[in-house]
Amino acid sequence: MRITFRNLCLIVAAVAILPLSPAIADHHLAVQRLGVDVIPQKYDLYVVPRFKTNDFLGEETITLAAPKSGIVSVLLHAKELTLSQAEVISAGQRQKVEIKAEPSEEMVRLAWQTPITGVPFQLKLKFKGILNDQLAGFYRSTWKDAQGRIHNLASTQMEPADARRMFPCFDEPQFKATFKISARVPREMTAISNAAVVRQVVSGTTRLIEFEETPKMSSYLVALVVGEMEATPPVVVQNVPIRVWSVKGKKGLGIYSRDQAAKVLPFLTGYFGVPYTWKKLDMIAIPDFEAGAMENPGAITFREKLLLIDPVDASSGTKRSAVSVIAHEMAHLWFGDLVTMQWWDDIWLNEAFATWMETKAVDAIHPEWQWWKTYANEREGSMDTDALRATRTIHSDVRNPEQAHEMFDVITYAKGASVLRMLERYVGEPVFQKGVHQYLEKFAYGNAATKDLWDSIGAVSGQPVDQIMNTWVNQPGFPLLSVGPSSRPGSLDMSQQRFLSEGLGPQEETLRWRVPVGIRVLKGAAPINGQSHADRKYLLTEQTGTVPVLTDEELELPVLANAGGVGYYRVRYPETSFRKLIDAASKQLDPSERFSLLDDTWSITFIGEFDIVSYLDLLGAVKNDEDELVWGAILGQVSYLQRVVEPTQKLPYQRFVRDQLSTLYRKLGWEPKPNELQQTRILRGRMLTTLGTIGQDPQVIKTARELYAGIGKSSKRIDPDLMTPITTIVAFNGGARDYDHLLVRYQTARTPEEEGRALHALTEFQAPQLVGRTLQLGINGKVRTQDAPMLISSLISHQETAETAWDFLEKNWKRITTFYPEQMVRGVVGSAGWFNTDAMHSRIKEFFGSHPIVSGESTVARALESSAVNVKFRKNSAAKFNQWLAQRFGKP
Ligand code: BES
Ligand code: ZN
Repeated sequence: MRITFRNLCLIVAAVAILPLSPAIADHHLAVQRLGVDVIPQKYDLYVVPRFKTNDFLGEETITLAAPKSGIVSVLLHAKELTLSQAEVISAGQRQKVEIKAEPSEEMVRLAWQTPITGVPFQLKLKFKGILNDQLAGFYRSTWKDAQGRIHNLASTQMEPADARRMFPCFDEPQFKATFKISARVPREMTAISNAAVVRQVVSGTTRLIEFEETPKMSSYLVALVVGEMEATPPVVVQNVPIRVWSVKGKKGLGIYSRDQAAKVLPFLTGYFGVPYTWKKLDMIAIPDFEAGAMENPGAITFREKLLLIDPVDASSGTKRSAVSVIAHEMAHLWFGDLVTMQWWDDIWLNEAFATWMETKAVDAIHPEWQWWKTYANEREGSMDTDALRATRTIHSDVRNPEQAHEMFDVITYAKGASVLRMLERYVGEPVFQKGVHQYLEKFAYGNAATKDLWDSIGAVSGQPVDQIMNTWVNQPGFPLLSVGPSSRPGSLDMSQQRFLSEGLGPQEETLRWRVPVGIRVLKGAAPINGQSHADRKYLLTEQTGTVPVLTDEELELPVLANAGGVGYYRVRYPETSFRKLIDAASKQLDPSERFSLLDDTWSITFIGEFDIVSYLDLLGAVKNDEDELVWGAILGQVSYLQRVVEPTQKLPYQRFVRDQLSTLYRKLGWEPKPNELQQTRILRGRMLTTLGTIGQDPQVIKTARELYAGIGKSSKRIDPDLMTPITTIVAFNGGARDYDHLLVRYQTARTPEEEGRALHALTEFQAPQLVGRTLQLGINGKVRTQDAPMLISSLISHQETAETAWDFLEKNWKRITTFYPEQMVRGVVGSAGWFNTDAMHSRIKEFFGSHPIVSGESTVARALESSAVNVKFRKNSAAKFNQWLAQRFGKP
C-alpha cells in the first residue's frame, strides 16, 4: 500500500455521531453556497508572486453572464485576500463598486448603483494575497541545491476550496469557466500552468509569462507553479507532449515517470473513446505538497517521491506507487476534469472512478505486475472502516469546505472503487465501458451527478442499475451473507444482515442491499484472474433467497459465494462447507478468492462469531501459499495479534511468527532468482521484514545487519527491493549509532525514495531515548511539514511506542496544531484507533472531547469506535490466544 497522505490519515477512518464542539458547530453553519444569479464565463488572471514579502499581487477581469436582469451585486469567494480596487463594466459603462468582505463565509460582496441587465458584463478587481505555508491556495515551498543554498518556489493546491485564497472567484465545481492566466516572475524562474505558454517577455529582473486560454473547467483545477524548474525533453504521444518538471538538478529522475505516462495516455483514450483535450501534459514535482498528487488538467502536481524515480535503484514498490498514482491522476483528466461532479457530495464520482481506473490502466501497461489483485486490498481497507457505526454513505451531505475535505477518505476512494468494480463485473466489462463512454460524451465540459452515471450504464445494460447501486451508495456499511445448502435439493440458501465490528447482536438493523452474488461450484482449476465462465450470477434482493444452482453431482463439491472476490460483502459458511472450501483453496481458488476467504474468516473471528483456535488452525493450513496478496492478509493478521500478546508470551509469539513463515522462508530465502515475478520480490521483502522485526529471527537480523553495513562499500549490489526491509530491520533492532547514521542518510539522500526510506525507518527504533528524538523531529522544524506528521502517527500506530507517542502528542498539541498545515492535523490522530485498553480508550476520548480537530469529526468518531472494538476483541479473545501460544509455542 502506498503511503501518501490520504492513506496516512485514513489508517482508521466518517460522518460523526458525536456531539459537535461549539467552535466546529458554528463554523458549519457559517459557510454557505453561492447563488446562480450570476455565472462566470471567463477569468483573465494576472499574478505577481513576491518571495521577499511572501505575498502576491493580483489583477483579474471576470466575464459574467446573468440569466436574470437588474443585477446590483455579486457574491463570490475570497479568503485571506485584500481587495484594493473594483469596478464593473457593462455595455461600455464603468461603475464604481463597493467592496464588503464577509470573512466568516469566505466571501466578498461587490455592489454597485445602476442595475445591469441581460448582457455579459465584467468585473475588474485588484487584490493582494499571502504566499502562505499551509500547502493550500497559492503557497510557498523551498528547496536546497547541491551547494546547500535555499531557493523559493510557489505552487498551487486548490482542491477542494482554496482557489479563493489566490483570486476572488466562484469557487464551486459547477461554475466552469475558461482561464487566461499570466504571471510576472523573477527572471531566473519559470512558470507552468494548465495551458501552454503563448508569450514570454523578459524585462529587467522579471519575466512575464502568458498562457493560452484553457477549455472550460472548475476553479479547483487551476494550477500555477513558479520556480527555478527544469523539464525532461518531451515525449509526444497522440500529439500530446508529455514532460516531467522538477526543481533544478533533478530532471534525470523524471524520465521514468514521463515514459510511463506516455503508455498510460493511449490506454485511457482507447478505453474512454474520448480524445485528450488539454493539449499538453506537464507533470510537476513539488518539494512541499500536502496530498500525494493533484489532477490539475495539463499540469498535474505531485509529491517528489511519487514522480522522481531512479530507474535503476528504485524498488518495485516505488515504481508501483509512481505508476499507479500517474494512472490515477491521468484518469481524472476525463473523470473529474472533463466531466466534474456537480457538488462535493458526489466527489466519489471523481475519486472512486480514478481509483478503479488506475488499476485497469496499470494492469494494461504492466500485466506482469498482476495489479488487478489490488482490488482485494481496496475492498479490505474500506470494509474495516465501513463495519463501524461511524462510517458514512458514499454519497454524503456536504455543506462547507471542512466537510468537503473530510470526503477524501477510504469510503470515497476504496469503497467507491470496490462497488464500481462489483457493478462492472455484474453488467460485464464491455457494457460498463460503453456506459462510461456515453456518460463522458454527454457531460463533457459540464457537470454530472451520481444518477447520471447510473442512467448511462443502465441504458446500455438494460439493468436497473440505479436500484442496485442506490443500496451501496446511499446506505452505510455492507452485508454479511450466510450461505449454505438449502433444504430444497440442489439449492443454496442465502440471507443478509449488516456486518458490524461491534458484533452482529440482535437484529435491529434493517438495512438490505441488492447484492450481485457470484457463485462458483469448484470443479476444476482456479480461473486466471478470478473470472470464470462457470460463475453464476444471482441478485439477492430480499433478506433471504434460494438459488437453484446445483445439479445432483455438484452437490458434494465445494461452493464459493464470492467468485473473484469482487463482491463488497463478507460470507459465512456452515462448518462442513467451509472445510471443503479450505481443502480446495490452494488449487481451485485464485489469489483474490483465497484472500477474501481469509479476510472474511479473520473478520468474523474478530467480532467473535468464529472460534479463534479454528482461525489459527486455518493460518497453519495456508503456510504453503506463495502469493503476495494472500500473504498480505496473513501478515496483517499475524501482526495485529501482537497487540494482544501478554508479556509472558512474547517469546512464544515470536516463535509462532517464525513458524508461520518457515516454509516461505525456505522457499524464497534472501536471493532473488532470475526472471522472478515482481510480486515474489516484494513478498520476500515483507517476509524478511516480519521475521526481522516482530519475529525476532536472529539469523535474519544478522544477515540484514551485514548487508546494511555493506551498502555503498561492498561491490555487490543489493536488490532494490531489499533496501527497505534491511533498513527497517536494522532500525527496529538498532541503537544510537544506527540512528545517527540513518539521520545522516535522510539529510543527504540522493533520491526522494532514499529520503523517505530513512525517515520512515527512524520511526522503527525502540529505545525510549531514540523514540524521543524521532518525536522531536516531528515538531522541531527539521523535517518538512509535509512529512513530519507521519513520524508521530507512525509511532502511535506501532504497538511498542504508541503510549509514549500519545503522551508526547498531548503535551505538544499546541505546537502540532500551529506547525502543521491545518489539514494535516487530523492525519496524526487517526492512529489512536489502535489502542486496545480501557485506560487508553478513556484517555483519547477525554482528549478528543476537549480538542476539536479541523475537518476531523469523522476521523475522531472512527478512532474512538475502532479503539472500542479493539478493546472488546482483547477482552474476548486475548486469553484464548495466549493459552494457545503457551501450548503450541511455549517451548523452544
Ligand atoms: N484529487 C486528489 C488530490 C486531493 C486529495 C485533493 C485530497 C484534495 C484533497 C488526487 O487525485 C488524489 O486522489 N491523490 C491521492 C493519490 C492517489 C494516487 C490516490 C493522494 O493524494 O493521496
Ligand atoms: Zn484522485
